[in-house]
Amino acid sequence: MCGIVGYIGKAQAFPVLIKGLHRLEYRGYDSAGVALINDRGSLNIYKAKGKVEELELAVEEQDITGSVGIAHTRWATHGEPSTRNAHPHCSRSERLALVHNGIIENYESLRKELILKGYGFRSDTDTEVLVQLIDDVLTSTGTDLFAAVRTALQRVTGAYAIAVIDKQNPKQIVAARKGSPLVVGISNDALYLASDATPIAEYTSDIIYLDNEQVALLEEGQQPIVSTLKGEQVTYTIRHTDIAVGQLEKNGFEHYMLKEIFEQPDTLQQAMQGCMSAAGDIQMPDWDRCKQRFLNADRILLTACGTSWHAALIAKYAIEQFAHIPCEVEYASEFRYRQPVIKDRDVMIAISQSGETADTLAAIELAKQNGAFIYSICNVQGSSIPRLSDACCYTHIGPEIGVASTKAFTAQVLVLNMLALAIGKENGHLSLKQYTSLTNEMRRLPQYITTILLQNERIAKAARTLTFAADALYLGRGFLYPIALEGALKLKEISYIHAEGYPAAEMKHGPIALVSHDLPVVVVAPKDSLYDKMVSNIREITARHGRVIAVVTEGDTQVRDISELTMTVPPTADCWYPILTIIPLQLLAYHVAVAKDCNVDQPRNLAKSVTVE
Ligand code: AGP
Repeated sequence: MCGIVGYIGKAQAFPVLIKGLHRLEYRGYDSAGVALINDRGSLNIYKAKGKVEELELAVEEQDITGSVGIAHTRWATHGEPSTRNAHPHCSRSERLALVHNGIIENYESLRKELILKGYGFRSDTDTEVLVQLIDDVLTSTGTDLFAAVRTALQRVTGAYAIAVIDKQNPKQIVAARKGSPLVVGISNDALYLASDATPIAEYTSDIIYLDNEQVALLEEGQQPIVSTLKGEQVTYTIRHTDIAVGQLEKNGFEHYMLKEIFEQPDTLQQAMQGCMSAAGDIQMPDWDRCKQRFLNADRILLTACGTSWHAALIAKYAIEQFAHIPCEVEYASEFRYRQPVIKDRDVMIAISQSGETADTLAAIELAKQNGAFIYSICNVQGSSIPRLSDACCYTHIGPEIGVASTKAFTAQVLVLNMLALAIGKENGHLSLKQYTSLTNEMRRLPQYITTILLQNERIAKAARTLTFAADALYLGRGFLYPIALEGALKLKEISYIHAEGYPAAEMKHGPIALVSHDLPVVVVAPKDSLYDKMVSNIREITARHGRVIAVVTEGDTQVRDISELTMTVPPTADCWYPILTIIPLQLLAYHVAVAKDCNVDQPRNLAKSVTVE
């Protein structure tokens, strides 16, 4: 999950490249580097371990001139985070520099072959093998860089998004992708390359989304040329990204994550609008093309990873309750390898904020091969998952920069519940009265969230009591069991406190042994249909001196009186409580991480988009 940026044009490349790396740093941040060809034809490569700011320090007093360059911010797969393993990697001939996002799976056999040809290697990376392979083709055949890259990539298995520059052809960049995303930006005086549109959006909205096994030649003053690996020229579509530059700034918030938590009244409204007709009815995107497939489905498979998988779990509860269609929720990484039984009357709902998660892509491929209809819920326009799907519902919430997903999750839950209501209304399992009541309540959610956010300061103070906790338990039932999982994931991924989510009733089957006076137990206990049972579970905790932190419905006194801290949400319908109750848990995790001085937007070992398996 690295970030790649490239520039070729009339201006100086370095400022565009370094700003682009900052915009892509959420994709990986354990080392960074840049390669530039200056006007005298010299190839200058600079690299640094750590964040992009370390690279900026490393290039002070260096020659960073030149109007063509490539840059990279890394999430290490092969080779530890270090300057030696940082990209760009240089060829033996000293004429090529290459950056790469992905994994070359046959790099060891290629490396052995190159060593026999006299090549040496300075790093432990698979990427260095690739640049030497291209170098070998270039120098042994005398062909041009565009052709050499195509020839070399035909010998490669695995995933890649690459950019290559050649000091002997300083007016061009060659790029290619397979399995990892890569886009080309076109403006009047320059061509851009990036892992996604965010670093390009401030220069142009004209974007080409490269497809798998496509190779692009970017030459100054020319329109890009795109071909297949075999060299057949490809006609491409120029799409227009809707990213506004303001969406990429923190706008006064200390972290992107906090900004994105506070955006949720607006982003929920945006996601809702994307699934409503002018008359105010639910109208899912591509509904005419997918309605019958949902109505005739024997089963709905929901697949995703991480936070998106938690949204899938909530969707299972909603679809089975409102539309009465059997649902199975699958971790994409497990589904793709376990020889699942897939029928052509199955519908797969694939959920992904980034649209690039490798395991989810693979699960879709497998389902598609077996005739299933693919409906995806995604946030990034033009990303790989929507392009692989038969139909797609975009959430329209703007870029989510914080690695810990917040606004994307609430938008996913909203549109999945809307889908469940739409199917239930169509197949008659949901009465018009129920449908109307639930959609009326849905329209109040943004204002409910605004109310919840007013507790931010109080939650910040209370979060300090968790700062020294080594472990935490999160408990919920029904629609709120997935919220217990999601709340636990938020805490552990940004504060590094071990946290586990459990179905509350499951405690008696083992986990209650963990309860002691210094174990915080976060309970999600709004006044829903399982409230009384939840209160019993909470009393099992307090009877054993567990510390209870509770999310409750406004006005609740029963749970409040047995809890150390309560955070409140307005009363609503069971299926909408997940969207409300996750907000205090997002804030709790955020403030604990800040109190622990953790890097909230770029937690250790993580990346925003997991494009490798
Ligand atoms: C959640 O906070 C994490 N960022 C991670 O679990 C994420 O949800 C997961 O990697 C799936 O990403 P996607 O939605 O882009 O496919």
